[in-house]
Amino acid sequence: MGSPAHIADNSSALKNRLPALEVKELEQLVRHHNALYWDKAAPEIDDPTFDKLVETLRAKAPTSKALEELGESTTKKKSQGFDDVVHLRPMLSLDKCYDDDTLLKWGDSFKGRVVVTPKIDGLACSIRYGKQGEIVLAGTRGDGKTGDNILANVKGIKDIPHALKNAPGCSSDGLEIRGEVYMRISRFNSTYKGEKSNPRNLAAGALKTKDPLESAAYGLSFFAYDLLGADPKEVASESEKHSALQRMGFAVMPLELIENHKELPDVFRRFVDVCKGMDVETDGVVMKADLLSEQERLGATAHHPRYALAYKFQGESAQSVVTAIEWGVARTGTVNPVCVIEPVFVSGVTVTRISLHNPGYAKKLGIGVGARVEIVRRGGVIPHVERVLSPPTQPLVLPTEWPVVGGRTALIADGDFLCLAEPERSVDVVVARVAHFTKVIDATGFGEKRLLQLIESGLVSQPADLYALDKKRLAALDRMGGLSAQNLLDEMNARRQLTLPVLLTALGIDDCGPTVAETLAETFHSLDAIRALTVKDLSAVHGIGDTTATSIVNGLRKSAPLIDALLQQVSVVEKEKIRDSGSPLFGKSVVFTGSMAKMDRKSAQKKVQGAGGKTPSSVTADLDFLVIGDEGSALIAGGEKSTKHKAADKLIAKGSKVKIISETDFIALLGE
Ligand code: IVH
Repeated sequence: MGSPAHIADNSSALKNRLPALEVKELEQLVRHHNALYWDKAAPEIDDPTFDKLVETLRAKAPTSKALEELGESTTKKKSQGFDDVVHLRPMLSLDKCYDDDTLLKWGDSFKGRVVVTPKIDGLACSIRYGKQGEIVLAGTRGDGKTGDNILANVKGIKDIPHALKNAPGCSSDGLEIRGEVYMRISRFNSTYKGEKSNPRNLAAGALKTKDPLESAAYGLSFFAYDLLGADPKEVASESEKHSALQRMGFAVMPLELIENHKELPDVFRRFVDVCKGMDVETDGVVMKADLLSEQERLGATAHHPRYALAYKFQGESAQSVVTAIEWGVARTGTVNPVCVIEPVFVSGVTVTRISLHNPGYAKKLGIGVGARVEIVRRGGVIPHVERVLSPPTQPLVLPTEWPVVGGRTALIADGDFLCLAEPERSVDVVVARVAHFTKVIDATGFGEKRLLQLIESGLVSQPADLYALDKKRLAALDRMGGLSAQNLLDEMNARRQLTLPVLLTALGIDDCGPTVAETLAETFHSLDAIRALTVKDLSAVHGIGDTTATSIVNGLRKSAPLIDALLQQVSVVEKEKIRDSGSPLFGKSVVFTGSMAKMDRKSAQKKVQGAGGKTPSSVTADLDFLVIGDEGSALIAGGEKSTKHKAADKLIAKGSKVKIISETDFIALLGE
């Protein structure tokens, strides 16, 4: 397994790449990281990143086979020296969540009490006992259907009885006990620290040791969490299983029975403390519907039962105090709060500002200036206020109006949201909308300051205006000049052909991101057809729910003037029909580093764009070429590599297709 720093690096690199990955690549990554975790016990990314990877694949390809294979192991790897155990019932995984809303929604899906237990970070094990209570078989989870027979080693774990006492009545198959094999933290620290990276990996090795005496010497432990095959008249609930397991001689985890589902988030937080006090590594809290009859009604997917949910730990949390609440306007014209906090270090970065999403959310949190708050980085990345620990000294005050060109506009409350009455009068909204457009069509040179200048000078009021800029008027602007003006015109002229998904995404309609736009284009083929759709037509499309359908229909209607103006300037083309320049740089992305000997960077970038290529500003895994300028180049002179060069080296080592080429190679590609 990698070091924590290595895992953090891999995780953030993968998260950055996720939006650009194709389904095939996502599937490969899901399979690869699943196998690293479960088969090799050597994860290279953290749990939240793995979950994000899975979610990205699920959003793009909900029926992907790779999703069905998820679980403790994708394949039953032949472990030498162990016979197979075919499980009587599949050993499924647990569904997981990281936030209270998902937990509460799950709680709403069934009736009756909920049992809450710690989630042990160990190895799942199934142990079978015969009719007389004698131990007969023990298996690892394997692929969920077939595992390795580890009976000899399991017999060496002192928490596991060889003969059951006080067993309930059972079917002819006998009883099956499932639970988690683990190594106590105290034992790991006193005896094995340094030998393996963590107790779970050590336990995995110990359980698969060929010599049962050697395996027993590791002193593994076991918590039982499930009892199967018992007479349902004697054992009709999870809590009854818990008592029965205890009576039979198993070690069991702390368990609480919760009546009111609304209390579950608080119970979770209480269990965080319970878990911290245990001599075993835990990675979350497991919640299950107590009644087996209710569990049966809820059923299961191929991956997990619906009656259970693991609320996973976020990782590190920190506390700070709110010093200000600031308000900002979004592209859509909604006005949202951001809380400014006293800087605090959490999961590797210093956090100073945290989005509060919308006013309704901020109100529900009970936040305001002076409040002490608990902060985590959700999924290890996005700063998030988990809860308010002590009330604010100043209550949250919502703005009632907003500055716009020529005065102020009213703010209209709409449920949890606050919206500008006339969004198009707000310079911030127009800048955000035009910036979104230039970003999606990949036009460079239109930073926020430049856009503000174009908008305030009256040259631009909507994206279509960017195509109709007058060179003279442009060149007359402050800090512009003829060359920069020409560069901007060239940028836009090179983007007069847009594919349908790019155009749809660039409109900035709520809920119409690249994935939905791609689905719309694939399903309906033309902009006219898409503009004519009703909510009903749209919600019939796989992957588009009612909310998205409504947002898109409303958004297209509101954007009609913008679309009509754009169609005067651009044509919508199919991907394959975008004019192929025939250059080896067509469709490729190129980044430059170091000084060029034969041309300046700007003209090199223009040449790439002229050939139908892209020139992003940074090195990412989907880059095609990194060009190292010949002058003083480390490639040529053996000097110190630039940051971009080092970044590309790293990505190549991780399997990225990036090619590092010299300026001379680049000129050859240009055919000059
Ligand atoms: S209940 C569908 N309870 O977590 C499986 N599992 O990520 C229902 N685990 O394979 C299992 N602590 O090995 C349950 N208190 C607990 C658990 C627990 C750890 C493991 C289990 C399962 C894995 C899923």
